Amino acid sequence: MSIQNKMRVLSGIQPSGSLHLGNYFGMMSRMIQYQSENDLFCFIANYHALTTNPDGDILSSNTYNAACDFLALGLDPEKSTFWIQSDVPQVTELTWILSSHASVGLMDRATSYKNKISQGLSPNMGLYSYPILMAADILLFDSQLVPVGKDQKQHLEMARDIAIKYNNNFGDTFVIPDSDIGLETQLVPGIDGQKMSKSYNNTIPLFDSEIHLRKRVMKIVTDNAHIDEPKDKNTPLFELYSLFLDKEEKRILADRYNGSGLRYGDIKQELFEKIMDYFAPYRKNKERLLSDSDYVFDILKHGARKAAVIANEVLERVRTASGIRYK
Ligand code: TRP
Repeated sequence: MSIQNKMRVLSGIQPSGSLHLGNYFGMMSRMIQYQSENDLFCFIANYHALTTNPDGDILSSNTYNAACDFLALGLDPEKSTFWIQSDVPQVTELTWILSSHASVGLMDRATSYKNKISQGLSPNMGLYSYPILMAADILLFDSQLVPVGKDQKQHLEMARDIAIKYNNNFGDTFVIPDSDIGLETQLVPGIDGQKMSKSYNNTIPLFDSEIHLRKRVMKIVTDNAHIDEPKDKNTPLFELYSLFLDKEEKRILADRYNGSGLRYGDIKQELFEKIMDYFAPYRKNKERLLSDSDYVFDILKHGARKAAVIANEVLERVRTASGIRYK
């Protein structure tokens, strides 16, 4: 199939600390699967991370680390276009242009902004405009499909709204993107049972030390059902374990939960071993990548150049349509 016939699939991830099982099953593994059949665009959203005011050194190392994580997990820079958001700064120009077409009323409905403020983040303009920057990420590359976790669904609808409104006013300029919310893994629970998220401090990181990882798994909340009683399967331990099981294995685990004699401690130990085994080859890849930064920088530079070709084309269309390109 030629590249023209492939679907352009785009998504990004914020470098907000150690990436975790929620990131992996919510978006990263799906993106990696998509790369063989599609024209995959994938980036590390470091401009977005600025909205929560991280320390500069921390943001810088988180950005590099997130890129290494993605590559270690199997993102193939030959098959896809992979870059750091700020290496294609054209996105900030598009953000400005789109800002004039995004109504304050639309922004005021963003639930993720309200959630972040209620968690104590400073209500800065970057945080408020976050969905416009995200719309620019998507629209700048003529994206057709955007795989994201359930929590990003509203942002995607906003990107569509902004693009549709712009096209109505200025003629067909943007491709209207569709969202792709994973069905099976809509929500990966954290160790406390809420959605797994850095901001809830309930994550199981992908590549932390074995000791730390084991500690996190042992902390997964469980009820105090007696060992002889059947156990509740609608619980974070069961759900997290299931992520690593095929249908038959999941059935066997369910039988153990339904029967008697199951100890949560044993299940936690098994889950810990599963996680270690599953990510063992990727751990090795990551070590290799971390020790070869020239190689990683080359990949990122090459990816940014490839992404910029599309970005410049689309931006030229927008500059012309909006009259920024003057005669
Ligand atoms: N906001 C997304 C998240 O936190 C990350 C992101 C930034 C993104 N730009 C994007 C996702 C564009 C998809 C498309 O998960």
